[in-house]
Amino acid sequence: MLERHGDEGDFVASDTVEAFIASLKRPRAIILMVKAGDAVDGVIDELSPLLDPGDILIDAGNSLFSDTDRRVGMAAAKGLRFVGMGVSGGEQGALDGPSMMPGGDRSAYDQLAPILTQMAAQVDGDACCSYVGPGGAGHYVKMVHNGIEYADMQVIAEIYDILRTTHGLAAPDIADIFAGWRDGDLSSYLLDITIDVLRRRDDATGGSLVDLVLDEAEQKGTGRWTAMDAFRLGVVGTSTAAAVGARVLSAGKVLRLRAAGVLDGPAATVRPLDAAATDDLSAALLAARIVAFSQGFDQIAAASKEHDWRIDLKAVAALWRGGCIIRARLLDRILDAPAREDSGDPLLLAPWFRDTLAQTQHGWRRTVGMATADGVPTPVLASALAYYDGLRQERSPANLIQGLRDEFGAHGYRRAGSDDPQHTDWARSGTDAQ
Ligand code: 6PG
Repeated sequence: MLERHGDEGDFVASDTVEAFIASLKRPRAIILMVKAGDAVDGVIDELSPLLDPGDILIDAGNSLFSDTDRRVGMAAAKGLRFVGMGVSGGEQGALDGPSMMPGGDRSAYDQLAPILTQMAAQVDGDACCSYVGPGGAGHYVKMVHNGIEYADMQVIAEIYDILRTTHGLAAPDIADIFAGWRDGDLSSYLLDITIDVLRRRDDATGGSLVDLVLDEAEQKGTGRWTAMDAFRLGVVGTSTAAAVGARVLSAGKVLRLRAAGVLDGPAATVRPLDAAATDDLSAALLAARIVAFSQGFDQIAAASKEHDWRIDLKAVAALWRGGCIIRARLLDRILDAPAREDSGDPLLLAPWFRDTLAQTQHGWRRTVGMATADGVPTPVLASALAYYDGLRQERSPANLIQGLRDEFGAHGYRRAGSDDPQHTDWARSGTDAQ
């Protein structure tokens, strides 16, 4: 490293942990970038005995927030200060400035802030880095960031699939369609890099490289954690859950190949793409992206309440505006929306979002309806639409669910117009309504 990059700064190389610790100014501040899980505890165990009270450990990996909570407490018991910092931006972000989501020991963050805010991406003069909250709050926000990342990537992939399967377009033509959307409300980093990936030629064959990439998605677990914690909290996290499910299904290629020969479905019909269908697809993409962000912010709000983290949701939107994978024009709209903390309402109900969904829902419905009829799976587009319709449904069918629960398990129900708990002997008494 020093041979290649030694002239780029004032670096000190160390061969042992002891020499490394001795080389640091006190109070020491050490950033850990190791694989989430046992490796983080291993490095902490190795470093801790050599550190002095007040020294700072910063875990900048993708650790599970509950591990960070535990480590903040353990470090404090030893007089050390622990910062769990979500970092997003990938390889490019590491060079140009990532989005940083620090949480944990506040005094440690305050001390580090002058350095971290310089390292972070900058948008309109603001650093994409601010203290998120105590304990595992920073890693929680990074986890939900990844959950939104999963959902948004899956929505883009579903639109790509419709363009490829239903409209028979080749990757470079699909890139051109996406390029036409990149300057409006759909503007986002993920859309930009989608265009790059779709345009890349494979030099060996002369075809599109993306057509040669195996269709088996991998995952390291952060999307799954997001979905699991949404279920645990009792918030709706269906966009991320559907995206995780789609990745799991994609990874089972052997089963898919077998099922393709066994399970029946509509024959693919290729239809030319007209301007109206293109508009429908962009409407569907925007609407489903709004739902993914709205559910993500709902989840952060619920977790913040449960853990008493007092996370400022606008500050989260602000630090996602640059450097991170889900940076998107939509975040400016979120910043302009009334504060979630005031109303407790999901983002979907805020004026711009409500009005945009009112406009986009028609194209969104046509897209999902058409894809369903054609047998093209749209798990995130469709589940997001079901969430939207579920949210605006004055009378849900849960009355029947309650009746069934009461019949098979005497779980009771509430009756309209009465505060008293009810139970009915559904099978054995009473008369049938006509
Ligand atoms: C980021 C990314 C980063 C990483 C994901 C990939 O914000 O920079 O989210 O953290 O790319 O962990 O996750 P999967 O391997 O699970 O897709």
